[in-house]
Amino acid sequence: METENKISLNSGQDMPLMAFGSSTFPPQPVERLKTAVLDAVEIGYRHIDTATLYQTEEGVGAGIKAVLESGLVKNREQLFVTTKLWCDNAHPHRVLLAIKESLRRLGLEYVDMYLIHAPVTVAPDITYGAWKKGDVFPLDIKSVWAAMEEVQKLGLAKSIGVSNFSCKKLTELLAHAKIIPAVNQVEMHPAMRQKNLREFCNKKGIHVSAYSPLGGKEWGFDVVLGNEQLKEIAQNKKKSVAQIEKCWNNNNMSHNKIHKLTKAIHVRLDMRTYTDSDA
Ligand SMILES: NC(=O)c1ccc[n+]([C@@H]2O[C@H](COP(=O)([O-])OP(=O)(O)OC[C@H]3O[C@@H](n4cnc5c(N)ncnc54)[C@H](OP(=O)(O)O)[C@@H]3O)[C@@H](O)[C@H]2O)c1
Repeated sequence: METENKISLNSGQDMPLMAFGSSTFPPQPVERLKTAVLDAVEIGYRHIDTATLYQTEEGVGAGIKAVLESGLVKNREQLFVTTKLWCDNAHPHRVLLAIKESLRRLGLEYVDMYLIHAPVTVAPDITYGAWKKGDVFPLDIKSVWAAMEEVQKLGLAKSIGVSNFSCKKLTELLAHAKIIPAVNQVEMHPAMRQKNLREFCNKKGIHVSAYSPLGGKEWGFDVVLGNEQLKEIAQNKKKSVAQIEKCWNNNNMSHNKIHKLTKAIHVRLDMRTYTDSDA
């Protein structure tokens, strides 16, 4: 079954390849997210992606609680939960507090994956979008990564990783790291192939996860779903562009995809089309 597709990470953990992305704008009510998570798990997703920035940790947590109560999965271990450290907490002394707050909102004792959301630091408690000159600093990679390592050692996250890190930023991190990041989550799709980054991460044993696999339609980009070449391939193969992208993203490379799927019809379509026969 599709949902059994997993990747073994350098941390020793197995991560389900398909993830259900929970970012929504504007943020959705807790009840709406709870239903979305229930729907996603019911049709086969076992990996849920959230972040402090998305303001969806509470809704995802409500969804996970409902999933566990419903018996859709046997226990917490059958789910894989990723959340992320936002930039205003990317200060060495704030990392531990930040993960504890995330766990409180999620209602969990641990997450499976904790990522540094971006290689940037913002002055504490400045709302995203209200950043002014002087609020944003380069990330203190050495100290913040050391705090992330502490999070893993304390068992608050089974694995740790990064997001939106370039080869240069990863090189800087690896120069100090005692724990190699398990994952680098980046935008990746046929219009943004990340070839150099994938080669680099592959050599270092870092798994690359693809976010916005459909090009981030919601942010006004049409580079995947509106791509003429992909449309032609889809027409020839009698598939949708989303189906073709899924084959490119999964069959040609070894990384997982994080879809934002707020409509059950897309969720169902995604699970149904996640097969080699669609290649
Ligand atoms: N680490 C980071 O910095 C970062 C950044 C961005 C995103 N992410 C993660 O990645 C997830 C996905 O990001 P994204 O929203 O940019 O992803 P995306 O998958 O490229 O785009 C999602 C959009 O595609 C549509 N869609 C989904 N399945 C479809 C299908 N089968 N056919 C046609 N359209 C379809 C959805 O439409 P409907 O709304 O109509 O369902 C949704 O608006 C987020 O939820 C988040 O978890 C991480």
